[in-house]
Order: sequence, then structure tokens, then C-alpha cells
Amino acid sequence: MPSLNIIVTGCSTGIGYSIAVHLASLGHTVFATMRRADTRKEGRTLRQIANDRNFNLYTISHDVDSEQSTSNCLGQCLHLSKNQIDVLINNAGVGGKVAPVEESEYNDFERIMKTNYLSPVRMIKMLLPHFRENHRGCIINVTSIAAQYWTANQASYCASKAALEAFSTSLSQEVRRFGIQVSTLQPGVVVTPILLKEQVKGVKGSPYSRHVRLSKKFYTAMMSTMRTRPIVVSKVVEQILHDFLEEKQRMHYVAGPDAIQLDKTLREKGMEWLAHDGGRPYVNNDQAHVDWFYKHFHLDVSASFKLKGPTNMISKM
Ligand SMILES: NC(=O)c1ccc[n+]([C@@H]2O[C@H](COP(=O)([O-])OP(=O)(O)OC[C@H]3O[C@@H](n4cnc5c(N)ncnc54)[C@H](OP(=O)(O)O)[C@@H]3O)[C@@H](O)[C@H]2O)c1
Repeated sequence: MPSLNIIVTGCSTGIGYSIAVHLASLGHTVFATMRRADTRKEGRTLRQIANDRNFNLYTISHDVDSEQSTSNCLGQCLHLSKNQIDVLINNAGVGGKVAPVEESEYNDFERIMKTNYLSPVRMIKMLLPHFRENHRGCIINVTSIAAQYWTANQASYCASKAALEAFSTSLSQEVRRFGIQVSTLQPGVVVTPILLKEQVKGVKGSPYSRHVRLSKKFYTAMMSTMRTRPIVVSKVVEQILHDFLEEKQRMHYVAGPDAIQLDKTLREKGMEWLAHDGGRPYVNNDQAHVDWFYKHFHLDVSASFKLKGPTNMISKM
């Protein structure tokens, strides 16, 4: 694969870190952005890896929520790449708290929308003239399977990722004729620090508490059974770059076994089903919930409930 100049945001940990190292290991030049890159240990670690392995990897300080910081960051990337950025990967993001709408802070909706949706929009707007003048560019927006699995108790996060999906599809139609290809990448549950960053204690006596418990258990089940690592997402990014160079980049990619299953079910059943049946919580019967989940999504969430498995799987043992 020819070497590309690639900006990746949010590279301090998790998926962004993995994408940056993986793409640099393939011979690409990577501009790995993160907050306080010069002073924090994650920045030093990446620079050390680049040094030890002779990678073309630069760390750049960048707070995606700040217009000034984004402008400075892009200025540095363009300067270092001699005005030839080929790929932008908007990865930086925040997870939402697992909580019902009624018990969520309005400020959280604003904060998540800002980082997960408005910041990638700004980044893209700033780079589009460059891509258009070069008649070439690849944009990858890391959304989430939550962009289509609009699940209960995650409204703020699902909405922010769905907004970025809609934006990306509109944008693709505007810019493809200028040689700019746009994709969204929807990972399922991936083991990264994000899952620990926004823990909230449930509201005492909440009428939603049993349903929230089921939602939280979905994540712990996926983490313990699938154990999807960030490299799985990085390999899908590698595939997207391959498709970009062949000029057949698709709009939509998923990463991880749970994302593949959820994507399939949701395409078959549609949003009407999700809104009604998809939210059916067997709040008083864990086995019924596990069975229901397996029946529709072919995903086994029993590990979180200390159950042996979905009933129809146990009967085959
Ligand atoms: N892990 C999953 O299960 C999963 C599933 C689907 C989609 N995703 C998406 O994948 C992306 C990466 O998440 P991850 O799982 O790798 O989580 P992570 O390890 O928490 O990484 C998130 C990254 O985003 C950065 N970030 C957040 N706000 C920022 C800001 N204002 N400016 C600059 N950087 C900022 C974080 O930087 P700091 O260290 O400075 O906070 C960190 O580098 C996110 O967009 C997430 O929504 C994750």
C-alpha cells in the first residue's frame, strides 16, 4: 500500500492509540493528536514507540472541543506533511452515562454532542478546502454501533453518534465528485478506558433502576465474552484505506462480532421494531431477558447475570 499522510484524533488511549500505532507500523505517516501531547505520559509513550520502531509518527496537542486548538493542530499537520494530508480519522469521543433521559443532566447532552458530533464537523470543515484542492481525501468518522442501536438509557451517546452518521452521508454526496471519500466506522463494544470513564450511581428508588441494570449488564457481558480489542477496529481502518486507494470506499463499516450481529438484526427488523419490542425489558426475570436477547440478536449476555446461557443453548448442551 502506498504511504499516506493521516491525522488521527484522540490517540492517548484505546482505539485512537491502536489506530495510530497500527497505521504507522504499515508505513504511513501518522499525526496522532491528543490533549496535552507534549507533557502527558501517553504522548511520551507514543513518541518513544515511534523512535524505537522508526515510525513516521508525530504527536500533536489538540483539544477537539476548541476551535483555536483545532486550527493550530491542522496548521502543524499541514506544515509537517508539506501540505499533503490524505486521510482524516475523527476518533476522539466521549461515552455517555448509562442513565434514562429523565435522570440525565441536560448539560451532558450538550457536552456529548459537542465532542462527538460538532467537533468532527469543525475538523472536516477546516480540512475540506485542502482535500478539494488536492482532488483527493479520505474521511473516516468513528461513530459506534450505538449510531443505529438506539438503545434505552444511552440516548445522549446514541444521538451524538447518529448525528455524525447522518452528517457523513449528506457530506459524502456533496464531495465524492471532488475525489473525497467519506465513511463511518461503527465499532461494537471494545475494551478501552471509555467504558470506565462515565460511571454513575443509579438514583435511589428510581423507577428506571431495574432497566438501567439490564443496560449496564449488556456492556459487561460483551466485554467478558467478546473481549474485542482495539486492534480489531484498526484492521477495519486498514481495510477502509485499501478501499480508498482503489476508489471504492463504502459509506458504512462495522467492527467487532457484536456490531456485526446488531447491524444485521437492526437492518432486518428496522427502527419500528426497536422502538417497541427492542426496549422490552424483562426487569424481573433475568433468564427471560437473556433468552430474548439471544433470540433476536444472537448475542449471549448470560455471563453478566451468572446464568449458564440462553435456554435454547443450554438445552443443546
Ligand atoms: N470502546 C468502545 O466500546 C467504543 C465503541 C464504539 C465506538 N467507540 C468510539 O471510539 C472512539 C474512541 O473511544 P475509545 O473506546 O478508544 O475510548 P478512550 O480510550 O476513552 O479514548 C477516547 C479518546 O478521545 C479523546 N478525547 C475525548 N475528548 C477529547 C477532546 N475534547 N479533545 C481531544 N481528545 C479528546 C480522549 O482523550 P483524553 O485521554 O484526553 O480524555 C481519548 O484519547 C470514540 O469516538 C468512541 O465513541 C468506542
